[in-house]
Amino acid sequence: MYTGRTTLSKFLIEHLQDLDDGGQLAGLLVDVAAAVKTIAALTGRGALGGHHGDAGSENVHGEAQTKLDVLADTIMIEHCNWNGLVAGMASEENEQPIPVETDGPVGRYLLVFDPLDGSSNVAMNVSVGTIFSVLRHASSETPVAADFLQPGVRQVAAGYAIYGPATMLVLTVGKGTHGFTLDREVGNFVLTHPSIAIPPETSEFAINTSNERFWEPPVQRYVTECKAGATGVRERDFNMRWIASMVADVHRILMRGGVFLYPRDFRDPTRPGRLRLMYEANPIAFVVEQAGGAASTGRMRLMEVVPEDMHQRIPVILGSRAEIERIERYHGEYEQGTDKPYRSPLFKERSLYRAEV
Ligand code: F6P
Repeated sequence: MYTGRTTLSKFLIEHLQDLDDGGQLAGLLVDVAAAVKTIAALTGRGALGGHHGDAGSENVHGEAQTKLDVLADTIMIEHCNWNGLVAGMASEENEQPIPVETDGPVGRYLLVFDPLDGSSNVAMNVSVGTIFSVLRHASSETPVAADFLQPGVRQVAAGYAIYGPATMLVLTVGKGTHGFTLDREVGNFVLTHPSIAIPPETSEFAINTSNERFWEPPVQRYVTECKAGATGVRERDFNMRWIASMVADVHRILMRGGVFLYPRDFRDPTRPGRLRLMYEANPIAFVVEQAGGAASTGRMRLMEVVPEDMHQRIPVILGSRAEIERIERYHGEYEQGTDKPYRSPLFKERSLYRAEV
């Protein structure tokens, strides 16, 4: 039954054998996959598992944690907590880096993760996910926060798990993006979606339009044009989807193309975006770029942003390449002031929502 199938272990051996420390990276990714299987088992029990509801605590961002947020975080830490492979870990749920048990030399990798992205959707039985990123740790010292502040281009591996009707692990080690489906009966991840390719053109966008009045003019212009459909400058109709679970929205884009935007907005001027650079934006950007898509802040390539803080937020615009280039162009025209004819009335020069905030 397994003849001709590629399991995750076989894939990792084949794709990492030319790396010096490929065995260690493969070992770490197998640990991540084991954590993902455990989280899949928990989320898959739904209300029967007794883990629905709030934990009664807040994370570092002041957001209420669900019981599953806390459990998924613990599962990731426990499965990967061995210094032979990782030197340190950082999680969206923890303010400081997580110390790793030591019984020998410090490992060569740093593991960064969002244990349960979109967790507010769990009670509605909507897909949620785990997002992870692997960076190198160059020193032989125990890592401190500054060691994690590496731009996304330095990631050696990244991916996400989606806990949907099927559990999938979507992974890149810098040689394309590949999808594995969990064979629940056997407990194996099997390569089902090799070399995923995001179509460069699309007619589908994903954005939380309830924030429209807070967006910057280039994003307003882009979405207004999409909504105008065949009667507007795009001369074709667009479709809109918003699951409010980043992995689910991104997974759809990997499967059939599209654009995902959580852009800069002015709801809270202290926050340049909603999503976190290190735990969400960078790993997903690596996956998307390796699938032929693009990922941007609107003003620059996401993976070139040098993090200043472990929990930094960032505008995220990613998906089909031609659309991302268009949105970046709109940001450029806005900066140069050549986009005035296209601006929404909400952003007229004297408007309350002037973007020069
Ligand atoms: O960052 C968590 C998250 O749930 C993402 O997974 C998702 O894309 C976004 O927030 C949803 O935001 P909103 O509540 O504004 O729709």
